[in-house]
Amino acid sequence: MKLLTRIFALSLAVICMMGITISASAAKSTLLSKLSSKSVTNITSARTIKQDLVVDEGKTLYVRNGGVLYVNTGATLTLKGDMKIANGGAVYVRGNIIVNDSSLLSCSGKIKILSSGSVKLDGRLWVNATGNINGKGKIYVNDSFSDIRYRGRITAKLVAPKPVRMNGATYVGGILIVNKQYSLPENYGSGLTDEAYNAYTKMKKASGHNMSIVSGFRSYQKQQNTFNYWCNKDGYDKAVTYSALPGHSEHQTGLAMDITSLSQTYANTAEGKWLAANCHKYGFIIRYPKGKTEITGYIYEPWHIRYLGTDIAKMVYDSGLTLEEFLGVA
Ligand code: DAL
Ligand code: ZN
Repeated sequence: MKLLTRIFALSLAVICMMGITISASAAKSTLLSKLSSKSVTNITSARTIKQDLVVDEGKTLYVRNGGVLYVNTGATLTLKGDMKIANGGAVYVRGNIIVNDSSLLSCSGKIKILSSGSVKLDGRLWVNATGNINGKGKIYVNDSFSDIRYRGRITAKLVAPKPVRMNGATYVGGILIVNKQYSLPENYGSGLTDEAYNAYTKMKKASGHNMSIVSGFRSYQKQQNTFNYWCNKDGYDKAVTYSALPGHSEHQTGLAMDITSLSQTYANTAEGKWLAANCHKYGFIIRYPKGKTEITGYIYEPWHIRYLGTDIAKMVYDSGLTLEEFLGVA
């Protein structure tokens, strides 16, 4: 028995010397001692975390090009400091990574979140141009989507926090949501927001198309009149498939616009195609996509765009989801 234990210990030491893995105790003595003695720890080959580990405030854990970090099932890597994954570096998450609110997780390489794994995000996540976060695991956005700076690719599922009601409006992860379920107070809004209008101007210029705003901000009262008009024309049942009840129109947010034409054939025009393929680069999404009426409550509106900012618009675009699905309120 004694001999067996010694053989086991010896083989572990050999494995560690080869730099292949860090066992439970070795993880503590190597990574932890490095983290506490230096402000930067570099991972340049394969390393495994088998037990809970903390990157302290003011410290940075780098996974360099060629470095691979495995966070094993049951282990939690807590970032009170930062973690940076270089292009060519990889992190495989079977356990958890917790990003504290003052911390940054920056990814120019790859993070694969396996189905047992998760990333819990209170702090910032930067997915740089070469960065790729994939796998069947989840990223829990605890507070706000605006904590994510997004240039690369995320195919792992983003899980939004619960809706929060503030001054009569509803926000999910900091994003204002207005639909058949969530309304705005009567006095909300006074025009298109500067951010949305400036983004529109930039987009119009870049597109080389006319891109006229057919309808921008609509007040509660204006929406009441608009809805009544369509209701009288087409009847209530038809009107509700393309026109919102007062208090339920995204146009009242000052973040939505109808572009150029209120006809579904707009989608087949050069301008409509350009809008669909490019508007996310300027911070917009096509809010009521084709075939998603069951989820959004409205017919396909290739002309109706909603401003979210470039990072979030790209996340929604890349996800292929409606805003309701993306925010978990479908
Ligand atoms: N056409 C959209 C749904 C609105 O009335 O706000
Ligand atoms: Zn519209």
